Amino acid sequence: MTFGYAGPHDRGEGEAGVDESTAGLGDDPLAPGWVPPEIDTTKAHPARIYDCLLGGKDHFDVDRQAAEVVIKALPGARDMVRENRAFLGRAVRHLAESGITQFLDVGTGIPGPGNTGDVARAVHPDARVVYVDYDPVVAVHSRALLAGADPALTAIVVADVRDPLSILHHPAVHEVLDFDQPIAVLMVALLHFIKPEEDAHGIVTTFRTALPPGSAVVISHGTDGGDPETSAEARKGWDNATSQFTVRDRTDITALFDGLDLIPPGVVNVPLWRPDGPAREDWAAIWFDGGVGLKR
Ligand SMILES: C[S@@+](CC[C@H](N)C(=O)[O-])C[C@H]1O[C@@H](n2cnc3c(N)ncnc32)[C@H](O)[C@@H]1O
Repeated sequence: MTFGYAGPHDRGEGEAGVDESTAGLGDDPLAPGWVPPEIDTTKAHPARIYDCLLGGKDHFDVDRQAAEVVIKALPGARDMVRENRAFLGRAVRHLAESGITQFLDVGTGIPGPGNTGDVARAVHPDARVVYVDYDPVVAVHSRALLAGADPALTAIVVADVRDPLSILHHPAVHEVLDFDQPIAVLMVALLHFIKPEEDAHGIVTTFRTALPPGSAVVISHGTDGGDPETSAEARKGWDNATSQFTVRDRTDITALFDGLDLIPPGVVNVPLWRPDGPAREDWAAIWFDGGVGLKR
């Protein structure tokens, strides 16, 4: 896979590394360490911290330092994000097998193998997928990943979920998705980046209201795992990032599905959501709750 720019790992940095605080400031794409000017390498970004936790290579020193803060407090964090990704895959596959062919993936993250389109198209080769993220780094990677994709079936939109109508009214969204047919909206590991005063519940309600009957909403969300002190320590990893991390409890996460019918097993720690085999016994160690709601 070719990306539009090289992360520090791609350049084999470390000993003779490029000063990332100046990366992107030049205008020569062939210069060592060049990154597109829209990519800020001086501030940690949730998508790149997540990539680092997942063991990816598309992040910078500042993101790695943030991930180290998280892992120091919460050594199981890598496992948690892997389980979250696996939940996303199972939810998309379940909905595709239930007949949904359109997906609006909000807070996409840096796409990797097993992304929403891969999973949906394994069931419906003509599945329509729109990827939305507020982070330009995600758009750069998504464009590279989807370079050969049929534009009638795929779009990438840079937009902020805190302005849900900017997504729902976006022309590229309507070029790919038919709002008269069921759509699955994914907000997976996204809403914990919405502060309490930014009204995550209202955001989900706006999407739900715009969706036709038969549609679905997929949400996963970080919790404090019943250990608020450790959680607070771990969340310091996002203190200086472009968005901070807000945990919500099971009651608040379940309330995000108001007006929707939760499909069994409801809102659970993500390893317990329709596992492919026996769920891991230490499922409570995965501090992500997830669920899928259907609109009648
Ligand atoms: C932890 S990643 C989750 C990626 C993917 N959904 C998954 O679960 O594997 C969160 C993503 O949400 C994006 N994000 C955070 N706040 C956002 C906002 N206000 N609007 C749109 N995207 C946002 C980040 O850029 C990042 O790519």
